[in-house]
Order: sequence, then C-alpha cells, then structure tokens
Amino acid sequence: TTLVGLVGWRGMVGSVLMDRMAQERDFDLIEPLFFSTSNAGGAAPSFAKNETALQNAFDIEQLKRCDIVLTCQGGDYTNEVYPKLRAAGWNGHWIDAASSLRMNENAVIVLDPVNMPVIKQALSQGGKDWIGGNCTVSCMLMGVGALYKAGLVEWMSTQTYQAASGGGAQHMRELLTQYGALNAEVKSLLDDPKSAILEIDRKIIAKQRGFSADEVANFGVPLGGSLIPWIDKDLGNGTSKEEWKGMAETNKILGQGEGFGTAAVPVDGFCVRIGAMRCHSQALTFKLKKDVPLADIEAMIAADNEWVKVVPNTREATIKDLTPVAATGTLTIPVGRIRKMAMGPEYVGAFTVGDQLLWGAAEPLRRMLRILLD
Ligand code: HSE
Repeated sequence: TTLVGLVGWRGMVGSVLMDRMAQERDFDLIEPLFFSTSNAGGAAPSFAKNETALQNAFDIEQLKRCDIVLTCQGGDYTNEVYPKLRAAGWNGHWIDAASSLRMNENAVIVLDPVNMPVIKQALSQGGKDWIGGNCTVSCMLMGVGALYKAGLVEWMSTQTYQAASGGGAQHMRELLTQYGALNAEVKSLLDDPKSAILEIDRKIIAKQRGFSADEVANFGVPLGGSLIPWIDKDLGNGTSKEEWKGMAETNKILGQGEGFGTAAVPVDGFCVRIGAMRCHSQALTFKLKKDVPLADIEAMIAADNEWVKVVPNTREATIKDLTPVAATGTLTIPVGRIRKMAMGPEYVGAFTVGDQLLWGAAEPLRRMLRILLD
C-alpha cells in the first residue's frame, strides 16, 4: 500500500482534513505515517494502522520513506523541509496547503473540479508538486469557474468579505473575545429597553479604541464591530498580497497566462477582513466578452460541478442561503445575486460564499491524494 506522510494534521486545516479523510474513508486506501514537529515518539492518532508512533517532521530519512507527503504544517515548514527532501533525492508526491511553492513553475495549484485537465497534463509530464490554492480563489472558482472554462470572462473584479479563520485559529478566538468584551461593556444598557442607543454606541467605540495590545494581538486592530480592508503583506505598489493572488492564482489554476504562453484574464479588487468565522464571501463583477442571456449564465454555473448551488436572486432566498452561516461546515458553494449590471449587457454581477477550511483548504488536498491513488 501507499505510504502517506501526514504533517500538520493537528492544526485547524489539518483537523478539518482528517475529518474529511475519515468521512470519505481515504485511510482505507493508504498506510498513514503521522509526523510531528514537537512530539516525535508520541502516539499517532487513531487513524494510524501499523505505524503507531509519531515521527519527527524534520527527519528527512523518515520523510523519504513516504510515497506521498501531505502537509498542512504551514509555509515555514515547507520552506525548510521541502528543499532538503528533494535534495536528498526524494522523488515522491508533495501535497501542500501552504502558499510557498504555489507559483513555482513545476507546481500545480490543485482544484480538480476546475482544473482536472491541468492536473492530468502535469501528471503525464511527471509532475510531483501539488499545492492547494488561496482559499478565496479556490472558493470563487468552485462557484463561477464555469464562466472561465467557457472563455467568457474578459475581466473580473472581486470585493471580498473574508472570515477570521483565514488568519488562523487564534484569530477566530480573538474575534469572539472582542465580541464578548463589547457585549459586556454595554450589557446593562442593552438589558434596559429604554436606554439611549447613542450612549451604547459611545461606550462601544470607546471600548474598541481602548482595546489593549493583547486584545488585538492577532489582527493588530479591532475586528469585532469593524472591518479591515487589508489582508496579508503590503506589496508596496498599493496592492495587498491577497489581492495579487486573485489574478496570479486564478490564471495559474486555469492553466493560462504567464508560464502558459497565453494572455492572463485580469482579476483585481479589494480583499477585506470581516467578523465572520470561517466562510469567505465575495461580490464579483464580470465583464463578459459578449452579451450572454442571464438564464444561460445561471444554467452554466449550476451545471459546472456537484457542489455549486445557484441561489435565486430574491431577497428571501438570498438571506436564507447566501451567507456564511448557511454555508459553514458544508461543501456547498452557493452563488447568487446573479444579475446584469447597469453598466451594460456584458456586465454581470454575482455573490458567492464558501467554507474556507473545506473547499478553501482541506478538500482540494484530499482529492489530489485520491487522484494520485487512482
Ligand atoms: N489568506 C487567506 C486569508 C487564507 O487570510 O483569509 C489562506 O488562503
């Protein structure tokens, strides 16, 4: 059987991945070898079969035994271990959630419902590096990939509403702690229906502005009751790294643009952190290459894959089905608010939501594992 090294399985993305692998019985098909950066020699989790001791995740000799290494350990780990492992002559498949290797020429960003032809092509050419995409990009393409596949998109602008989980587990805790502190600050006023709302408002803004360094340790500024219109590094050209990824990764996933000898589709917009837990949402504006009837657009999107769900563009359906609360913990990618925009018949708007830990992180990785096992 195939020996699959699992690294970073205890973290948030890793835990979601383990759950999904158990649900889909992926462990039936492999011999898992669990690695740890901190607890080598300890007991592997219950999914272990014959290899019941945790191996040191920095031990190149142990990693070399694996046919496939699947890591959710993060970019620092990848940067440190991957070059050493390859330099040691290891020729196995490396499946990785981190962004470190994503834009390497030999790496494929895996999202098989969208880019199976790109994956197959790379496999036939001996590809060994399979990297999960940025969560926002993967969720977006699971929703509206059909329009790209049909070659209809001249450009796309995206305004994101990204959840705390994109920063990590500590960021989710920080958000909730802030919400709690804000509530506590005005609890007695809230309990009194006759209290003045502007008094509540004054106390809340004072509390937010007065948060201690500890209370904003992860996001740097308050997120509860606010938003942060910048995600990831400052590239120094007015664009955030998260915004840059939108165009770079969308095109790479689709096998077009730089490196493929074709024109890239422009993708640009603003990436914004909001106080949601684990679903990223995005408002999309497309300029299509031609005027396509709305019913055709909806039908193409709906037929693209088994997870996308077109939400009728009504208030009732939208507020029920097109929210982070509705999508959390599911593989469903709702796409709604699909309509022609005032700028002209080629301009189409849409709104989509996706669980950034599932399609945004864990699911494409376990599916790539399955593709390799086939
Ligand atoms: N960069 C994403 C975010 C998460 O911060 O929301 C990982 O793709």
